[in-house]
Amino acid sequence: MHGKIRIERNPNRKTKPGLEEALGFGRYFTDHMFMMDYEEGSGWQDPRIVPYGPISHDPAAMVFHYGQAVFEGLKAFRTEKDEIVLFRPDQNAKRLNRSCDRLQMPQMDEEFVVDAIRTLVRLDADWVPRKKGSSLYIRPFVIATEAGLGVRASSRYSFVIIMSPVGAYYEEGLQPINILVESHYARAVRGGTGNAKTAGNYAATLKAQALAKEHNCAQVLWLDAIEKMYIEEAGSMNVFFKINGEVVTPSLSGSILEGITRNSIIHLLKEWGIPVSERKISIHDIVEAFENGTLEEAFGTGTAAVVSPIGSLLWNGTLMSINQGNIGELVARLYDTITGIQYGRIEDSNSWMISC
Ligand code: COI
Repeated sequence: MHGKIRIERNPNRKTKPGLEEALGFGRYFTDHMFMMDYEEGSGWQDPRIVPYGPISHDPAAMVFHYGQAVFEGLKAFRTEKDEIVLFRPDQNAKRLNRSCDRLQMPQMDEEFVVDAIRTLVRLDADWVPRKKGSSLYIRPFVIATEAGLGVRASSRYSFVIIMSPVGAYYEEGLQPINILVESHYARAVRGGTGNAKTAGNYAATLKAQALAKEHNCAQVLWLDAIEKMYIEEAGSMNVFFKINGEVVTPSLSGSILEGITRNSIIHLLKEWGIPVSERKISIHDIVEAFENGTLEEAFGTGTAAVVSPIGSLLWNGTLMSINQGNIGELVARLYDTITGIQYGRIEDSNSWMISC
């Protein structure tokens, strides 16, 4: 049960960041948010859009103790014709349900979720930024709200959607980033929650992320938790390597997030006739390709990061500079194509864009 979305308009509209302001990532929030509650026996109820603001919960709410929380990330774009469009929101709704299932949380009607997002974006349409390369980042999340300290699935949940006008995810913008290959800590293990978008997956990366910063690296590259050998993902991005003309990306092993941008990039590469394969890639394969000069390009993909060139990898004290730290030809083509489709400059032949 979901019902009709009730709308309570915000009488106190905030000042929006101006064109001259650097938006950064997730610093500003729009005037409204979507909320809906779940109770065992009654299902999802009272879908509503209300003024953006604090939400209060019992200190014993289960999310605070056992981390029963999942989230999504997607973007709305303002096209050159001044239309507002979403990139593959149906895929986010599907993945949200998969994440909920993994944490024993209730399912939602996927069409309703997309409709809630569209309704919220339409109401805060003025917040979809006009600045080149900017967009409105949409963050749906579900949290366990029942008060109780026994370890079990909550009987109550809140589904919330908030939105933030954003620029580039990395301070470097489109400039290649340095990445530290993590050989001590692990992000996820097969059978764990690595392929679900749970809040805890991200908390588990922060310690290594801080170490990466000390090495002047913007991100951590995670290896598999058991053999510490096979490349998984970079935490906020899936990763791709171009080796000797072929593009390779780690296969979805169960501990890697099934990125929507990842899927779109693989689709584009196939359309272009560029060899692409999803397979196990060990860090030794990368070192070997670096040493014999066949590691041509490396990049990360994600909703927040879009397509982000990797300038170097630091592994066990060995620094591997990729494409002399420059933006590669393929990564530039992929970035231009994905953003071209998103901003309506390139024909959307796969019907990825959904209008608001
Ligand atoms: C995204 O790319 O949307 C993500 O969720 C990654 C990160 C910002 C947590």
